[in-house]
Amino acid sequence: MGRVAVLGASGTLGRALAEVLGNSGKYHTRKVWDLRKLEGLEDFLFAFLEDVDAVINAAAYTNVNRAEEEREEAFVLNALFPEVLARVSRSLGLKMVHVSTDYVFDGRVGFYREDDEPSPLSVYGRTKLEGERRVLGVYPDALVVRTSWLFGLGGKNFFSRLPFMLKRGEDIYAHSHQLSCPTYAPRLAGVLIGMLRAGLEGGIYHITGKTPTTPYDFALTVSALLHPTSRVVHFLPDMSIRPRVSVLLSNRYDYPAFPLFEDFSRYYARSVAGL
Ligand SMILES: NC(=O)c1ccc[n+]([C@@H]2O[C@H](COP(=O)([O-])OP(=O)(O)OC[C@H]3O[C@@H](n4cnc5c(N)ncnc54)[C@H](OP(=O)(O)O)[C@@H]3O)[C@@H](O)[C@H]2O)c1
Repeated sequence: MGRVAVLGASGTLGRALAEVLGNSGKYHTRKVWDLRKLEGLEDFLFAFLEDVDAVINAAAYTNVNRAEEEREEAFVLNALFPEVLARVSRSLGLKMVHVSTDYVFDGRVGFYREDDEPSPLSVYGRTKLEGERRVLGVYPDALVVRTSWLFGLGGKNFFSRLPFMLKRGEDIYAHSHQLSCPTYAPRLAGVLIGMLRAGLEGGIYHITGKTPTTPYDFALTVSALLHPTSRVVHFLPDMSIRPRVSVLLSNRYDYPAFPLFEDFSRYYARSVAGL
């Protein structure tokens, strides 16, 4: 496979993809094109993608709480833009990966196969589900890859911020109301590139770490290992827009299990090196 374009190259996954792809990647950031701007988007994408063989969409509106207020923006980023990207990718004959989320499920059943019926609780989840459907609607050969609790350099979620909290010796506020699988972004990046090369059938795939945990349990374990004096404090989160148990089962693509504690230790060493 030749060059791969990455949309959203400044994000957690985008950065990890850039590390793996290096010079064989072509990178879009907000400076190149603000994806809220739909007018002219198709022309921009045709020009940007003309010299690549594949595209990975790592751009998204990912702030779950804020999406409840900024519905329109979340819808544009997570549903309308991916549809345009899929249409252009199909026209250019590109292989395409579009990344989605476990938040398309409501978390009641808990362990989800690719063909289980989604039922999102949040605006974020609804817009991501709409994006999946629009992408596959216009380009059935696209690969829609759901992942969960992505952590890595530049990330803003609990797992991405945890090393910094540990290193600073802060109290760590964590809850035990969600069970899912943290996924180290560089591992996901490697699998996505492998999937593009493998010539897979289009449709939905689940790719995550394979160690289900809660933020609280995980914080207890890693603080004991990496920073025993850190205090882990339990709190009650607002669970109205988050799935309680959203472990994704992978039945369509075989990939190696990512060793969570090894991955987190590596990430800890990399992320706190500059502190
Ligand atoms: N993080 C998780 O826990 C998680 C879990 C499951 C699934 N996912 C999915 O995994 C994928 C990657 O997530 P991530 O954690 O890497 O996301 P992220 O760190 O929030 O990165 C999102 C990317 O989208 C770009 N972007 C957002 N709004 C934009 C706009 N208006 N114009 C241009 N670019 C814009 C961001 O650019 P800026 O840096 O300029 O904002 C950034 O490069 C997403 O599809 C997400 O839904 C994430």
